[in-house]
Order: sequence, then C-alpha cells, then structure tokens
Amino acid sequence: MKSAPPIDRMTEPGIEDRIADLLGRMTPGEKVGQLSQVNAAGGHIPEDYAHAIRQGWIGSVLNEVDVPTVNEIQRIAVEESRLGIPLLIGRDVIHGFRTVFPIPLGQAATWNPDRVREGARIAALEAAASGVNWTFAPMVDIGRDPRWGRVAECLGEDPFLSSVLAAAMVRGFQGEHLDAPGAIAACAKHFTGYGASEGGRDYNTTDLTERALRNVHLPPFRAAVEAGVATLMTSFSDIDGIPASAHRHLLTTILREEWGFDGLVVSDWESISQLAVHGLTGSDRESAFEAAMTGVDMEMASRCYIEQLEALMEEGVVPVSRVDAMVANVLRVKLRLGLFDDPYCHPERLPEIGNPDHLEAARRAATESVVLLRNGERDGSPVLPLDRDAVRRLAVIGPLADEPAEQLGTWVFDGDPALSTTPLQELRERFGGAMEIEYVRALETTRDRGHGGFDAARTAVGGADVALLFLGEDAILSGEAHCRADIRLPGAQEALIHHLADTGTPLVLVLMTGRPLALEAMVDRVDALLCAWHPGSMAGPALVDLLFGDASPSGRLPVTFPRVTGQIPIHYAEKRTGKPATPESFIHIDDIPAGAPQLSTGNTSFHLDVWYRPLFSFGYGLGYTSFHYEHLACSAPELTMDGSIQVEVDVVNTGARAGDEVVQLYIRDPVASTTRPVRELKGFRRVHLEPGERRRVAFELTAADLAFWGRNNTWSAEPGHIDLWVGGHSDASLHTHIHLVSP
Ligand code: NOJ
Repeated sequence: MKSAPPIDRMTEPGIEDRIADLLGRMTPGEKVGQLSQVNAAGGHIPEDYAHAIRQGWIGSVLNEVDVPTVNEIQRIAVEESRLGIPLLIGRDVIHGFRTVFPIPLGQAATWNPDRVREGARIAALEAAASGVNWTFAPMVDIGRDPRWGRVAECLGEDPFLSSVLAAAMVRGFQGEHLDAPGAIAACAKHFTGYGASEGGRDYNTTDLTERALRNVHLPPFRAAVEAGVATLMTSFSDIDGIPASAHRHLLTTILREEWGFDGLVVSDWESISQLAVHGLTGSDRESAFEAAMTGVDMEMASRCYIEQLEALMEEGVVPVSRVDAMVANVLRVKLRLGLFDDPYCHPERLPEIGNPDHLEAARRAATESVVLLRNGERDGSPVLPLDRDAVRRLAVIGPLADEPAEQLGTWVFDGDPALSTTPLQELRERFGGAMEIEYVRALETTRDRGHGGFDAARTAVGGADVALLFLGEDAILSGEAHCRADIRLPGAQEALIHHLADTGTPLVLVLMTGRPLALEAMVDRVDALLCAWHPGSMAGPALVDLLFGDASPSGRLPVTFPRVTGQIPIHYAEKRTGKPATPESFIHIDDIPAGAPQLSTGNTSFHLDVWYRPLFSFGYGLGYTSFHYEHLACSAPELTMDGSIQVEVDVVNTGARAGDEVVQLYIRDPVASTTRPVRELKGFRRVHLEPGERRRVAFELTAADLAFWGRNNTWSAEPGHIDLWVGGHSDASLHTHIHLVSP
C-alpha cells in the first residue's frame, strides 16, 4: 500500500445546501457564535446566558444534564434566536453515564470490540436521555507512561488494539445513524500525542517526530475517522514546539487534506487561550488567529474566538472563507445529528437509566476486563477459583472492598454510586448464610500510611480459610492532572501485605487501579492476583463470579506492567536498539563483585538494579484453564503487495474448564528502511473453548497491515522477510515467517 486510501464518505444530499443557505444569512457575530462553546450554569439559565443564546452567540453548551434546562436552552435557541440554530450539548461521558462500565483501560483489557461497543451504546442511551447530544469520548491517546493519570482513560499502549477499540466505541456512541434516538456524537481526543507527555506529568511537553506520530499516535485517530467519528478534540500538549491547538500540519494537512475529515474540531478546555501560556502567542487575538487559521473550529471555555474573531475577520486578517469553513463544520454535525428537525430531549422514548439490562451489560464488561496475573498453588491446586464448599471463614480486607464510589474510577461526573454493588455486598448477599465473612478495612483509604488497622486485619486473616484483599488506588489517583511519580501501591498497602503474608492463609489480592502498578516488591507475597482496574457499577457481582469460578478470568493486559517505576517507559513494541539486553549479558547490581571498578557489565541495554523484562507483558493474562497452540501455518509462503494471506493456528483448551482465550498475532519486519519494533500486534480474536475443544483461528494479512511510515516519508510496506508469532501474549513463541514480494 503506497498511501492510506481516502475515506469513503456517504454523500448527504441536502446538508451542504442547508449549510450554504444558513451561511448566506448569518451575520459575522452569528458565525463566530457558532464557534463558541460555554460551560453551563448547571440547572438554571441566568438572563445573560439566555440573552447570549438568543443573540446566536453560543454554538454549544457543555456540562448541562438537567433535562428541563436542556430543553429550555434548546427552545430559546430554536425559537428565539434569529436563525433558530440548535445547540450542541457536550459532556464527558467516558465509561458510562449513570450505569458505569470499567474505566476505558479496563474495557481495553477485554480485547473485545463488541463489549466496548455495547458499553458505549448504553452510555449514549443514558446520556441522550439526559439531554446530551455530544460526548467527549473516546480518548484514543496511546498510553505508554503509567505515571500519567490519564492512562486510565485510554485504550492502552498499542496502536492496533487502540484503533480497533476506538472504532468500536465510536460506533457504540453514534449507532447506525447519528440522527436516530439515543445516538450521540463521539469525539476522538486528544489530537494528538498527549499520552507522550514528558515524565508522565499531565499537560507536559512532548517532542514527537513525524514518524512517531504516524506510526504510533495517529492510527487510532485515523480509525475513529474511518468509523465516522463526528468530532475531534485537540490536545493540550506541545508536539514539536507547536502546541496541538495551533498545529496546521496535524489539523489541516493530515486530518482534512489526507484523511478527508469533514466533521468538527473542538479545542480542549481553554487550550486556545493557553497558546499564550505556552509562549506561542502574545495575546488572545494572536491565539484566536493561530487556532482559527490552523484548523480548530470551536473554542471550549475560553473566549478568544468570541472576543477576537469578528474583528480579525472584518480587518481581513482571518478570511471570511476560513470562518465559513469552520462554521460549516459545526453546522454539519448539528445537521447530521438531526437537531434542526428535533433538538429536544425525550427521555420517555429511551430506555430507563440504570435499568437491569444496562447493569447486566456493565457486569459482562467488568467480568471480561479482569486480568488474572498470578494464580499460585496450595497443596498442589491453584488457589483460584475458590471452592465455596471449602471456605467456611472468609476474611475480607481493604479500603476498596465496600466503596460504591471508588470502584467507579475516574471521570464519572454522572456515575451513580447508588447503582453500585460492591464486592463485600455481593459476598454477603451470596454467601452470608453459608460462610462466616469478616471484614476489616485496615486502611481508611489506599493512601493511608497508618498501621493502626494492621493487627485486626492479621487476626481476621489468621483465622480464615482464605483472605480477599481489595487494594489498589482510590479513583482520585488517576484521571486528568492526577499523575504519580511512584506507581507502587500507595500508602501502607505494601506493608499491610507483608504483615499478612506469613499468617499461612492464602492471600488473594484484587487490585482496583487506574493504571498499571509497579508490584515487584510484593507480588511474591500474595497467592493470587487479579487486576480489576476500576470495574464500575457491577464490580461486586463480576468479581465474586470470577473468584468463585462462576466465570473464568479472560482479560488481557492492554498495557505493560513494569517491575519498578524507574523502568518507564517500557512497552512491548520497543525497538531492538544496537545493543539489546539478553539473559546472558544482564548483570544485577548485587552480583557485581566488590573491588571490580572496571568490570564490564556486558554493554547491553538494561538497568543494573532490575531485571530488564517487565513484570507482566502486554497481552498477558491467565484463566482457569490452559490453552495450547499448534499447527501455525500460512496459506502461502509469499504475500504480494495487492494480495492477502491467511495465517492459521489451532488453539486447544487443554484444561478441565471452559474459558475464553484471546488469540494474538504479532509481526516483525526485521530489516527495513527505518528500524521497526521488535513486535507489533496485527490481529486478535477472542474465542470461547470448552474443555478439550480445538478451534482453527485464522487471520488475514495484507501488505497494508505491514505498512509503516518509512524512510521515504510515506506509508509503504517494504518487501522482504516478515516474522510472525501467534499465541496468548506478546512473548508468544510459536513462530513462522512470510516473504512480502514486489510485483
Ligand atoms: C479537559 C479534558 O482534557 C478533556 O478531555 C475534557 O473533555 C474537557 N476538559 C471537558 O471536560
């Protein structure tokens, strides 16, 4: 493939004519008004706000979810403004609305586009029933730094996985037709590179090459655009000396000219006025000029456009045609949403918010999102699943066992903790009559450094057949501007685990977390470890199903777990480097003999004080059964530039239980015009296998799948040898290869 094909857009007769008609009748002030998004007053309508809507000075409102208020501001817009243009009502509907699904990183751990789509669909239905017609999701930034608080909101570290799931989320929010009841406009954000913020500190600088942008950061945005995403949001970050909200190359050359995007680009919160804070501009006037001329259509929260753009237009500094194009992008989304036909919210036409079906879907998503990272043995048998008949006394420990709000995670403005079922509630409900359940919180929060509750916890654990520890991170520790420099378990949680570990009672650690954590210091002290992310409303039922074997864990890591924070960045698709570490070349600090100041440490790429591999690799996750892979074969030894090839493998459930496996296909281009990652995910499939069942799983590969932004600065697949691996994680060893051949 020489270049990515143009996006095949449906032609929408009528819409462009209506846009032209409206533009022809708009005053300069009304045009600029369409480009302005203001924060809601929250459940009431002050007169100056109503006046601004009447005058056509507001194109969109964010954060209004009170239905009568939404309907009244829409009424003012369509009945009392001169041109009757309805409002976009925006809201951060990130992983559910009242019914909360796992955080996006947890949804990514399902490796299940259908599940992700279902979650977005339900979020859209509930949000639409509250007056929202535009969500600021999905967040598709590549998250390779778990210190960054927003890693919770992304779909993981990998461009391919993120792309597939980004498209699924867009389709879920937007449905089949944007103007159908319950469909809302999606927004792929933050365009782009935000996830690469230096040091994992939010809003920080990034320094991204065109190659890194093209190969790593842009693919999920492209996938969202191909899935028909209605809008994009710019990033706060500085990409390469130019902040994203004034980046012509990204916003115009790539997005509009190469990809053919004709939707709306909104700034992030005040990111236009912040161009001056970055030092790119000296005034709001210059900021308005830069953002408008480079490709930002609508300004969120700050007032550079509304206060400066009309004058800039009248003076001829910003051409009227430029502003018209921006307004057209806004109107196009409003027309596609059908707002001109009916701008009002009709909750009675939509399913009830928080209904049992929605909660059941949240439970499915939570169940599939949990990743079993460790399952040790006691008396020759795996600790999990627990045998309900053998557990007479159960100790439940930790500050996250019974916290309806914490289990929802970050970015849940509308999440309803009253819909939550906590693990402790579910355990008591299901087993209260059959086993003795003792709960000791031990720590007030996950950040608590006190040891005051340790002894009570130890007594409870010591007297129990098994202990369930619900630890991790409070919801507040991840999300926007909630970054951490040290990603071990916060507070005294590690000390608590050590305190409980020698009681002899099996310890099952359930981690609720917004990010991968650095667990090396304690992972060997627990018998089993489940990473549950922040699972959402149905944490309790999902986790109890998994702990007691009513469901088998099937989540897989969408991000690498480092051993220690200092290993970051560490991700599976690393480059080989000129001097890759090997088991033979690695030397640990403890093994350096005293008095050997000139000792060669092998001159390969590793830290002296930690094993060079991660603690848990991308794609990894256990279940209650085992899978064997064999008979990997390709339909032909050669792949032509315009052909395709089938890569097939047998997957066998070799255990005694049914389970889901996520079959993963990785490639490597070992010699290319630019250096390539050691592995790249190119396909995955979730399959359910009964005990003993064998399934032949096939992936199709084309040259387009092997293409990358190479030395000649175009997308191309380069002829030559391509390695392939198929298996259950990114370290899979079953290998074959093909040759990509030129015509
Ligand atoms: C700032 C965040 O970066 C963005 O993701 C969010 O959508 C807006 N605020 C609106 O709340």
